[in-house]
Amino acid sequence: MELKGIAALVTGGASGLGEATARMLAAAGAKVGVLDVARERAEALASALGGGAFACDVTSGESAAAAVAAAEARHGVARILVNCAGVGTPGRAVGRNGPMPLEQFAQVIAINLIGTFNLIRLVAHRLQAAPALADGQRGVIVNTASIAAFDGQVGQPAYAASKGGVAAMTLPLAREFAPHGIRVLTIAPGLFKTPMMGILPDEVQASLAASVPFPARLGDATEYAALVRHIIDNTMLNGETIRLDGALRMAPR
Ligand SMILES: NC(=O)c1ccc[n+]([C@@H]2O[C@H](COP(=O)([O-])OP(=O)(O)OC[C@H]3O[C@@H](n4cnc5c(N)ncnc54)[C@H](O)[C@@H]3O)[C@@H](O)[C@H]2O)c1
Repeated sequence: MELKGIAALVTGGASGLGEATARMLAAAGAKVGVLDVARERAEALASALGGGAFACDVTSGESAAAAVAAAEARHGVARILVNCAGVGTPGRAVGRNGPMPLEQFAQVIAINLIGTFNLIRLVAHRLQAAPALADGQRGVIVNTASIAAFDGQVGQPAYAASKGGVAAMTLPLAREFAPHGIRVLTIAPGLFKTPMMGILPDEVQASLAASVPFPARLGDATEYAALVRHIIDNTMLNGETIRLDGALRMAPR
């Protein structure tokens, strides 16, 4: 898809994988809407990219609807949606202080899974009414799962469940939107060097990097953005979750 002048939305666009994606899309000529709860970082990035920042809590129907509408008023209907907003809150089902508070589990599901679906339903609704492009395509939705969807570790029941949900809904959504020429794909990253990863001590990051078969390092966010670009460009890709992980299969702990 020719990205010049196309409107795109990136949730979680103010940091990490989302920021790299917003930069890639802007460099390709897209009009980028950065949707994030981190208002100041979103505004700083959007102004550097010549895009727009739209305050958005992906867990809220009203907040997301307002952000999508404001972005459309400024840039036109979004043909690209990249869902990167997420949290990696760890926690065992039964920890030192007893069972995990149910609210903690629900919060991870609310942001990572329900937040992803929230934006998909809103953007796809508007996209279905937009004119098709020359090849019959209307738009592309890219979600972010994690390899924890498939090999979740001890301490990741909530995270793995949220990302497993994102992977599982990819095919039914691609099937539902196929008559409208809207593709849906999900990327399942392994270990990437982003602020989310940066909260871990350096030695933990180094040992995680060494656990990746090849290349034995953390992924760079630009490598994630490059896959988003390929997904957008390759119309035959649809309904699939793609691992981007250097052949890493995570150990139980
Ligand atoms: N970094 C990794 O190794 C890795 C691996 C696998 C999957 N992922 C996934 O990739 C995505 C991006 O992660 P990252 O590493 O770039 O993290 P990050 O913390 O750098 O960025 C996440 C962004 O999401 C935003 N966000 C959080 N809650 C939100 C909400 N309710 N509404 C709107 N925005 C919200 C944050 O403000 C932040 O800007 C996440 O879904 C994460 O689970 C990351």
